[in-house]
Amino acid sequence: MATPLDRVRVVQGDITRLAVDAIVNAANQRLLGGGGVDGAIHRAAGPELLAACRALPEISPGVRCPTGESRITPGFRLPARYVIHTVGPVWAGGDRGEPEKLAACYRSALALAREHGLRRIAFPAISCGVYGYPPAQAARVAVATLAAELMKAEAIDEVLLVAFDEPMAQTLQAALDEARAEGDD
Ligand code: APR
Repeated sequence: MATPLDRVRVVQGDITRLAVDAIVNAANQRLLGGGGVDGAIHRAAGPELLAACRALPEISPGVRCPTGESRITPGFRLPARYVIHTVGPVWAGGDRGEPEKLAACYRSALALAREHGLRRIAFPAISCGVYGYPPAQAARVAVATLAAELMKAEAIDEVLLVAFDEPMAQTLQAALDEARAEGDD
Protein backbone atom coordinates (compact mmCIF):
# COMPACT_ATOMS: atom_id res chain seq x y z
CA MET A 1 0.00 0.00 0.00
CA ALA A 2 1.43 3.38 -0.98
CA THR A 3 2.38 5.49 2.00
CA PRO A 4 2.57 9.30 1.98
CA LEU A 5 6.36 9.22 2.28
CA ASP A 6 6.52 7.49 -1.10
CA ARG A 7 5.88 11.01 -2.45
CA VAL A 8 8.88 12.51 -0.65
CA ARG A 9 12.34 12.55 -2.21
CA VAL A 10 15.70 13.96 -1.07
CA VAL A 11 17.72 15.85 -3.67
CA GLN A 12 21.01 17.71 -3.43
CA GLY A 13 21.46 21.02 -5.20
CA ASP A 14 20.45 24.65 -5.52
CA ILE A 15 16.71 25.04 -4.85
CA THR A 16 16.56 28.17 -7.05
CA ARG A 17 17.11 26.00 -10.12
CA LEU A 18 14.18 23.63 -9.58
CA ALA A 19 11.29 23.88 -12.04
CA VAL A 20 8.61 22.86 -9.54
CA ASP A 21 5.29 24.51 -8.72
CA ALA A 22 6.69 26.13 -5.60
CA ILE A 23 9.97 26.39 -3.77
CA VAL A 24 9.86 27.19 -0.08
CA ASN A 25 12.02 30.02 1.21
CA ALA A 26 13.56 29.97 4.69
CA ALA A 27 12.84 33.61 5.35
CA ASN A 28 12.67 35.90 8.37
CA GLN A 29 9.67 37.69 9.79
CA ARG A 30 10.40 40.91 7.87
CA LEU A 31 10.16 39.05 4.55
CA LEU A 32 12.59 41.51 2.94
CA GLY A 33 15.34 39.04 2.02
CA GLY A 34 18.50 38.07 3.80
CA GLY A 35 21.38 35.66 3.42
CA GLY A 36 21.42 31.89 2.87
CA VAL A 37 18.68 30.42 0.77
CA ASP A 38 16.63 33.62 1.24
CA GLY A 39 19.35 35.62 -0.46
CA ALA A 40 19.78 33.05 -3.22
CA ILE A 41 16.05 33.00 -3.97
CA HIS A 42 15.81 36.79 -4.11
CA ARG A 43 18.87 37.03 -6.36
CA ALA A 44 17.47 34.42 -8.76
CA ALA A 45 13.88 35.71 -8.70
CA GLY A 46 14.84 39.31 -9.38
CA PRO A 47 13.72 42.58 -7.78
CA GLU A 48 10.04 41.93 -8.38
CA LEU A 49 10.15 39.36 -5.57
CA LEU A 50 11.22 41.96 -3.03
CA ALA A 51 8.49 44.30 -4.28
CA ALA A 52 5.90 41.51 -3.90
CA CYS A 53 7.13 40.77 -0.36
CA ARG A 54 7.12 44.43 0.57
CA ALA A 55 3.51 44.63 -0.63
CA LEU A 56 2.47 41.98 1.90
CA PRO A 57 0.87 43.58 4.95
CA GLU A 58 2.79 43.90 8.21
CA ILE A 59 0.76 42.29 10.97
CA SER A 60 2.88 44.02 13.57
CA PRO A 61 5.82 46.44 13.23
CA GLY A 62 8.46 44.72 11.10
CA VAL A 63 6.54 41.41 10.99
CA ARG A 64 4.98 40.29 7.70
CA CYS A 65 5.17 36.56 8.50
CA PRO A 66 5.29 35.27 12.08
CA THR A 67 7.40 32.21 12.89
CA GLY A 68 5.67 29.02 11.75
CA GLU A 69 3.45 30.77 9.22
CA SER A 70 3.86 30.97 5.43
CA ARG A 71 3.11 33.51 2.69
CA ILE A 72 3.00 32.90 -1.08
CA THR A 73 4.25 35.09 -3.90
CA PRO A 74 4.92 34.50 -7.61
CA GLY A 75 8.35 33.14 -8.50
CA PHE A 76 9.05 35.82 -11.15
CA ARG A 77 12.38 34.95 -12.85
CA LEU A 78 12.71 31.63 -11.01
CA PRO A 79 11.87 28.42 -12.87
CA ALA A 80 9.44 27.72 -10.01
CA ARG A 81 6.00 29.27 -10.42
CA TYR A 82 5.65 30.33 -6.81
CA VAL A 83 7.73 31.00 -3.71
CA ILE A 84 6.23 30.02 -0.39
CA HIS A 85 8.03 32.05 2.27
CA THR A 86 8.07 30.51 5.72
CA VAL A 87 9.83 31.57 8.90
CA GLY A 88 11.50 28.85 10.93
CA PRO A 89 12.34 29.01 14.64
CA VAL A 90 15.72 30.15 15.85
CA TRP A 91 17.26 27.22 17.76
CA ALA A 92 17.41 28.08 21.47
CA GLY A 93 18.27 24.68 22.95
CA GLY A 94 15.12 22.78 22.04
CA ASP A 95 12.79 23.55 24.90
CA ARG A 96 11.33 26.80 23.57
CA GLY A 97 8.82 25.11 21.26
CA GLU A 98 11.26 24.90 18.37
CA PRO A 99 10.05 21.48 17.12
CA GLU A 100 6.43 22.61 17.12
CA LYS A 101 7.31 25.87 15.33
CA LEU A 102 9.37 24.03 12.72
CA ALA A 103 6.55 21.55 12.15
CA ALA A 104 4.20 24.50 11.70
CA CYS A 105 6.40 25.77 8.85
CA TYR A 106 6.02 22.52 6.88
CA ARG A 107 2.30 22.36 7.71
CA SER A 108 1.51 25.96 6.73
CA ALA A 109 3.57 25.75 3.54
CA LEU A 110 1.76 22.57 2.47
CA ALA A 111 -1.59 24.16 3.30
CA LEU A 112 -0.79 27.08 0.96
CA ALA A 113 0.34 24.66 -1.75
CA ARG A 114 -2.96 22.77 -1.46
CA GLU A 115 -4.99 26.00 -1.51
CA HIS A 116 -3.27 26.95 -4.77
CA GLY A 117 -3.64 23.51 -6.33
CA LEU A 118 0.13 23.00 -6.48
CA ARG A 119 1.42 19.47 -7.04
CA ARG A 120 5.23 19.60 -6.71
CA ILE A 121 6.89 21.58 -3.91
CA ALA A 122 10.52 21.79 -2.78
CA PHE A 123 11.70 22.60 0.74
CA PRO A 124 15.17 23.68 1.85
CA ALA A 125 16.36 22.60 5.30
CA ILE A 126 14.45 25.28 7.15
CA SER A 127 16.23 26.72 10.21
CA CYS A 128 19.33 24.52 9.67
CA GLY A 129 21.61 27.39 8.68
CA VAL A 130 21.70 30.82 10.31
CA TYR A 131 18.93 29.77 12.70
CA GLY A 132 21.09 26.97 14.06
CA TYR A 133 18.63 24.09 14.26
CA PRO A 134 20.51 20.77 14.60
CA PRO A 135 20.06 19.11 11.18
CA ALA A 136 19.24 15.56 12.35
CA GLN A 137 16.52 16.83 14.69
CA ALA A 138 15.15 19.19 12.03
CA ALA A 139 15.09 16.37 9.47
CA ARG A 140 13.05 14.16 11.80
CA VAL A 141 10.53 16.97 12.38
CA ALA A 142 10.28 17.65 8.66
CA VAL A 143 9.69 14.01 7.70
CA ALA A 144 7.21 13.34 10.50
CA THR A 145 5.21 16.45 9.61
CA LEU A 146 5.20 15.61 5.91
CA ALA A 147 4.05 12.05 6.66
CA ALA A 148 1.11 13.37 8.65
CA GLU A 149 0.16 16.19 6.28
CA LEU A 150 0.51 14.25 3.04
CA MET A 151 -2.03 11.74 4.39
CA LYS A 152 -4.61 14.51 3.91
CA ALA A 153 -3.11 15.97 0.72
CA GLU A 154 -3.61 13.42 -2.04
CA ALA A 155 -3.35 16.16 -4.65
CA ILE A 156 0.29 16.83 -3.84
CA ASP A 157 2.29 14.54 -6.12
CA GLU A 158 5.81 15.15 -4.90
CA VAL A 159 7.70 16.90 -2.12
CA LEU A 160 11.42 17.43 -2.61
CA LEU A 161 13.66 17.90 0.41
CA VAL A 162 16.56 19.87 -0.99
CA ALA A 163 19.99 19.64 0.63
CA PHE A 164 22.61 22.19 -0.36
CA ASP A 165 25.44 19.86 0.60
CA GLU A 166 26.16 16.14 0.91
CA PRO A 167 26.05 15.90 4.73
CA MET A 168 22.58 17.42 4.79
CA ALA A 169 21.46 15.11 1.98
CA GLN A 170 22.62 12.11 4.02
CA THR A 171 20.89 13.45 7.14
CA LEU A 172 17.61 13.98 5.31
CA GLN A 173 17.80 10.58 3.61
CA ALA A 174 18.49 8.86 6.94
CA ALA A 175 15.45 10.53 8.52
CA LEU A 176 13.30 9.55 5.54
CA ASP A 177 14.54 5.93 5.58
CA GLU A 178 13.95 5.70 9.35
CA ALA A 179 10.39 7.03 9.06
CA ARG A 180 9.63 4.66 6.18
CA ALA A 181 10.94 1.70 8.18
CA GLU A 182 8.73 2.70 11.11
CA GLY A 183 5.81 2.94 8.73
CA ASP A 184 6.43 -0.62 7.55
CA ASP A 185 6.14 -2.07 11.08
N1 APR B 1 19.48 25.88 -2.20
C1 APR B 1 19.11 24.99 -1.24
N2 APR B 1 19.47 25.10 0.06
C2 APR B 1 20.24 26.18 0.39
C3 APR B 1 20.65 27.16 -0.55
C4 APR B 1 20.25 26.97 -1.90
N3 APR B 1 20.57 27.83 -2.87
N4 APR B 1 21.39 28.10 0.11
C5 APR B 1 21.45 27.71 1.40
N5 APR B 1 20.76 26.56 1.58
C6 APR B 1 20.57 25.77 2.81
C7 APR B 1 21.58 25.96 3.90
O1 APR B 1 22.76 25.20 3.62
C8 APR B 1 20.81 25.42 5.08
O2 APR B 1 20.93 24.00 5.18
O3 APR B 1 19.35 26.18 3.39
C9 APR B 1 19.35 25.77 4.76
C10 APR B 1 18.74 26.88 5.59
O4 APR B 1 19.74 27.81 5.93
P1 APR B 1 19.48 29.41 5.89
O5 APR B 1 19.32 29.85 4.50
O6 APR B 1 20.57 30.03 6.72
O7 APR B 1 18.07 29.60 6.62
P2 APR B 1 17.68 29.53 8.17
O8 APR B 1 18.64 28.72 8.96
O9 APR B 1 16.24 29.16 8.18
O10 APR B 1 17.86 31.05 8.65
C11 APR B 1 16.95 32.00 8.14
O11 APR B 1 18.73 33.40 7.45
O12 APR B 1 19.12 34.05 5.32
C12 APR B 1 18.57 34.44 6.50
O13 APR B 1 16.80 35.93 5.87
C13 APR B 1 17.09 34.65 6.38
O14 APR B 1 16.95 35.66 8.55
C14 APR B 1 16.68 34.47 7.82
C15 APR B 1 17.60 33.37 8.30
